Amino acid sequence: MATVSSLLLFFFFFYTHALAVLAAAGNEVALFSHVKSILKRGESLSNNGSSLTLETDCDLVLRDANKMILWNSGSVDKGVECIFWVGKYGVAIVSDVDGSPLWTTGSPGPPGNYAILLRPDGKLRLYGPSIWTFERSASSASVVAEQRLVEAKPPSFDSSGYVMYSSEEFIYEPAVGVMLKHGNYSLVLETSCTIHIRRNNYQSSAEFPVAEQRPRAFRAVAPPCKTQLTTDGQLEAYKLLYLGAGGLDDVWLRSWGSNFTVLAKESIAALVDRGKSGELLIYPMKETIT
Ligand SMILES: *[C@@H]1O[C@H](CO)[C@@H](O)[C@H](O)[C@H]1NC(C)=O
Ligand SMILES: *[C@@H]1O[C@H](CO)[C@@H](O)[C@H](O)[C@H]1NC(C)=O
Ligand SMILES: *[C@@H]1O[C@H](CO)[C@@H](O)[C@H](O)[C@H]1NC(C)=O
Repeated sequence: MATVSSLLLFFFFFYTHALAVLAAAGNEVALFSHVKSILKRGESLSNNGSSLTLETDCDLVLRDANKMILWNSGSVDKGVECIFWVGKYGVAIVSDVDGSPLWTTGSPGPPGNYAILLRPDGKLRLYGPSIWTFERSASSASVVAEQRLVEAKPPSFDSSGYVMYSSEEFIYEPAVGVMLKHGNYSLVLETSCTIHIRRNNYQSSAEFPVAEQRPRAFRAVAPPCKTQLTTDGQLEAYKLLYLGAGGLDDVWLRSWGSNFTVLAKESIAALVDRGKSGELLIYPMKETIT
């Protein structure tokens, strides 16, 4: 299928993707255009039991938690080496190693940062372009000092631990502590109810203890902070000002916000370890694939 758009994709791939590609490691749920992550043949994205696999015959196959096939791309070509990736125009592509697309999905958007994500509910969606980026370089000091960080309620809905969802079903509210973690970086809701990216001190992992069941007595103590990602793509943190009689009477003060929104049905925030820096990107939903 040698169309004009496939030629464009070809050139785009070879001039911007051919060099440094990061293969998606074991526990990934998403591919990101800005870090050029790819799936190779035999590799998968997986989330909450569902999986998306680039089969050895180049077919992209979505399976549910019972390994039942829900969907496939039909891009079967036994003769070639192929990869799956998302480009900077928001089109997801199974291409051969020469860069010619075997299959694409998604309509081209403005150039930017895009992601393709296998959600915890087993749905495949494209997100982007990102509306907000928050970066922290490895060299900037301020590694966790004396303070003991509590691991937030683990995001059990997402196997990766690096994606946060705006959808109500996926909301979790850490009182304070690590919200997302990817490689050497964490997104932390501080005791001051502000949000920072921190570089983990990988030599003393004790600073990032695994979540423990809190003693019941602690439940009487209200969480000092809460956070949410709104559907229109704003990450916000709130500090508890007054503890009301019931939860509804509590008074919260907005203590931090990413201050940027866009009209969207749903958004995600993803923390990405880029080695020299840790980055949080917020993406509105672009389109559904399955
Ligand atoms: C995770 O998978 C289970 C079983 O397939 C499902 O019932 C549950 O709703 C999924 N979680 C989310 C957040 O979609
Ligand atoms: C974390 O940083 C250390 C030291 O810079 C490095 O050796 C290690 O590979 C990094 N880990 C990850 C998961 O990036
Ligand atoms: C968002 O706006 C508030 C108030 O103007 C400001 O204090 C805060 O630093 C802003 N957040 C970011 C991430 O810039």
